[in-house]
Amino acid sequence: MADKWSPDSWRGKPVVQMPDYPNQDALNSIEKKLGISPPLVFAGEARNLKRSLADVADGKAFLLQGGDCAESFAEFHPDNIRDTFRVLLQMAVVLTFGAACPVVKVGRMAGQFAKPRSAPMETIDGVELPSYKGDMINGPDFTPEQRIPDPDRLMQVYNQSASTLNLLRAFAQGGYADLHKVHQWNLGFVKDSALGHKYQGLADQLDETLAFMAACGITSETSPSIRETEFYTAHEGLMLNYEEAMTRVDSTSGQWYDTSAHMIWIGDRTRQLDHAHVEFMRGIGNPVAFKAGPTLDPDDLMRLIDTLNPEDEAGRLTIIARMGADKVEEGLPKLVRRVKSEGRKVVWVCDPMHGNTIKSTSGYKTRPFNAILDEVRGFCNVHEAEGTYAGGVHFEMTGQDVTECTGGAQAISDEHLQDRYHTHCDPRLNAKQSLELAFLLAEILKGNRTNQPKQAAVNS
Ligand code: PEP
Ligand code: CO
Repeated sequence: MADKWSPDSWRGKPVVQMPDYPNQDALNSIEKKLGISPPLVFAGEARNLKRSLADVADGKAFLLQGGDCAESFAEFHPDNIRDTFRVLLQMAVVLTFGAACPVVKVGRMAGQFAKPRSAPMETIDGVELPSYKGDMINGPDFTPEQRIPDPDRLMQVYNQSASTLNLLRAFAQGGYADLHKVHQWNLGFVKDSALGHKYQGLADQLDETLAFMAACGITSETSPSIRETEFYTAHEGLMLNYEEAMTRVDSTSGQWYDTSAHMIWIGDRTRQLDHAHVEFMRGIGNPVAFKAGPTLDPDDLMRLIDTLNPEDEAGRLTIIARMGADKVEEGLPKLVRRVKSEGRKVVWVCDPMHGNTIKSTSGYKTRPFNAILDEVRGFCNVHEAEGTYAGGVHFEMTGQDVTECTGGAQAISDEHLQDRYHTHCDPRLNAKQSLELAFLLAEILKGNRTNQPKQAAVNS
């Protein structure tokens, strides 16, 4: 790999999953426009996230990453942003309180618009058209016009991401995320369920704790972390023209940062060592991640780590394992063992969604809740057995009452999938399933912590 990096050095490398634009001039002029548009995030914020992720790498915090598989122009609505945000807050409270561990919150939001696809073309009733690649690239309707890559969409993504991020910042810092409001985060359709009551119980406990802390002099006024939260954004950096245009030199450090999001990841299909996506990601200062599917071998894993995190900086690199429930206990140990034996600092995260997608009998793409839970459990078991740290989870989820993944306490069946199947790409956990998973995960984490041998006290 050439040592000299620049925001456009990826252009000299082989690339997969990127669209061919019929009108290059139109693309160039949009790239220019994006290049002079204000950054969406600041380098200092990306560095703060990196510091928090360094705590995760160190076993002192837990990463919760979640949001849509693909954000869309059609579903752009403040209520959708609010609902996803508040389910993430609820999950974070369950995990923080249940597992007694700080939670780093990262949304798959404000930029998650471009999708790798398993096939470049789609055929319906004998008609073949390019596959839908996410609203950043083309349109979901099965018409030739919609499926042509359109560079104007990059600008629409930028604008939608800017206003999404603006609302998220307001929610995180403006009082909505105050821990005194945990009761109010209980969503309408979750509230009256057994799960809603369980959450209510936890919120009551938290109220008592806050009252005790206030009596000790620790209040929202004295401790801002009670009244506001840090919330970060991340997406797959698939569309490199967009990512390059958003990449700027940070005046305080002189380093390049991709200002489209705090954290960017490389998908399982674009992580080839000598390809464009790895080339781009190695030069930006943001925390970065890559997906690790069952085909990744330990030597390639080490080469990726060397390329993306040559200085072995804690918090710089997250590995998102997405093996599948039936493969995780066999496929993950050899990767985890190798990283441990080489003494490298990484954050290990479990994406229990992408290895567990099946076609239901009713024809919908779905994911069974139990397979998702099994993969999370398997992931945690592997880390417990290897003496490494299960650092976090990565979910495709929404605050809406959709019926896309089967199972869970609501017992969504194959026949129910058609009721509210709204996703633009992969099936997401709905708000109840997400919260249910958070409670189950808190139990797993608590169990693993109590099973761990106590560390010998240094002075005893
Ligand atoms: C995704 O996160 O939506 C995705 C496509 O994941 P993967 O690269 O793991 O297939
Ligand atoms: Co997906």
